[in-house]
Amino acid sequence: MIPDSLSKLIKKRALMPIIHRLVSDLEVSIIIEDEVGRVLMATDGAEELNRYPVTSDGEVIGWVIGTEKVAVIASILTGIAETEAQKRALVSETLYKYKEITLLYDVVEKVSSCLDTKEIARLVIEEARKVIRLTSISVLLFNRETDTMELLGEYGHGEDAPPTVTRGVGIAGSVWASGRAEIVNDVHSDPRFVEGAVSIRSLICAPLKAKDTVVGIIKLGNCEPVTYTAEDLKLFSTLASLAAVAIENASLYEQLKDAFYMTIYTLAETIEKRDPYTGNHTKRVMEYSLAIGKTLGLPEEDMARLQLGAVLHDIGKIGIRDNVLLKESALTDEEFAQIKMHPVYGEEIISRISQLKSTIPGVKHHHEKFDGKGYPDGLKGNNIDITARIISVADTFDAMTSTRPYRLGLTLDVAFEELKKYSGSQFDPEVVDAFFASDVMEAFFSSNSRGKIVL
Ligand SMILES: [Fe+2]
Repeated sequence: MIPDSLSKLIKKRALMPIIHRLVSDLEVSIIIEDEVGRVLMATDGAEELNRYPVTSDGEVIGWVIGTEKVAVIASILTGIAETEAQKRALVSETLYKYKEITLLYDVVEKVSSCLDTKEIARLVIEEARKVIRLTSISVLLFNRETDTMELLGEYGHGEDAPPTVTRGVGIAGSVWASGRAEIVNDVHSDPRFVEGAVSIRSLICAPLKAKDTVVGIIKLGNCEPVTYTAEDLKLFSTLASLAAVAIENASLYEQLKDAFYMTIYTLAETIEKRDPYTGNHTKRVMEYSLAIGKTLGLPEEDMARLQLGAVLHDIGKIGIRDNVLLKESALTDEEFAQIKMHPVYGEEIISRISQLKSTIPGVKHHHEKFDGKGYPDGLKGNNIDITARIISVADTFDAMTSTRPYRLGLTLDVAFEELKKYSGSQFDPEVVDAFFASDVMEAFFSSNSRGKIVL
């Protein structure tokens, strides 16, 4: 910490009257100079005899000049300067502790309930920016499959290429290899400096460690030379520890979620395999549904159950016998009654999986009609869950435009007309409008064949 100058100390503590009193009591004349020899005070008759230093924190901050008697004034000023320095150190330490506790409290509160790795990186970056001087910061996560560090989030790199890290190469690569956090206040003179980080002058880099394994790297830098302190390093390392635990938890959750989704898709595929002519029907219904949901601005929670509902909408067909499900000629009334049971069978199947409960409305009611003339429950209007109203449009549109061995699919124009014709009776008009305003339309018009659609 830089000590106060003697001039500042005298002003701050209003020492001039005290010094004059001492001069009078001791019956001496004195000169007081600052550390570079500027005269701060001189009494009548003062002359250069002895020079007594005034120190603070081991540094000379000024001089008291006079006879031997004035040495006591130098001692008193030194005592006051030391007390002042200790007071400042205490205030600084308290401030640091307050900053550390506030930061940790904020981070724990925000990231502990977050299961999205990118969001955790964003929150950690946001908190670091509040407490440490930096112009750029990046969070990288180790990808076990590719054996590389991948960028999870960053701030301040502008148009520069996202920072990459190779194990053992450069300062961050060295932190990755050693597992120890480091401060480098002069990056350009560090032997590990690699071209590419030219704009960074000072940096702190810390490993993200989970169970003693480096799972990522977090590094911050400043494009101006700054002196990062041991306190900055400690704060940043604590932040990195919290981030590592949260990111590891979120990664495990994401892996579990991926496995769950994969199981669901496999389940839906088993239905498609029974009727090979449907060729990717489930995937297209999911893509159309999500495009409509996005246009309608559905909240994230509804989008998630819409996706699963669309994938599983015909899962109940597993309960329909092949001679009915795969029949190529017209169905009898009794056979059609059997087909109409598939949404109910779908509900029965997925109701056994607690994580899929919210998708039941989409599955059970995707054949309901907006005017109440659908099945299985004859629900009407907004009583039909929004996911079911969306899946209904997506499913019908794809069925209309699909070619089967026994019938040719409708052209896009005819299918569009059909959607418009039944908007308000079979379909929710808002959903139909959203379909026409969605990314799906752009994909249709930028591609000649449905097979090339990229959503
Ligand atoms: Fe269906």
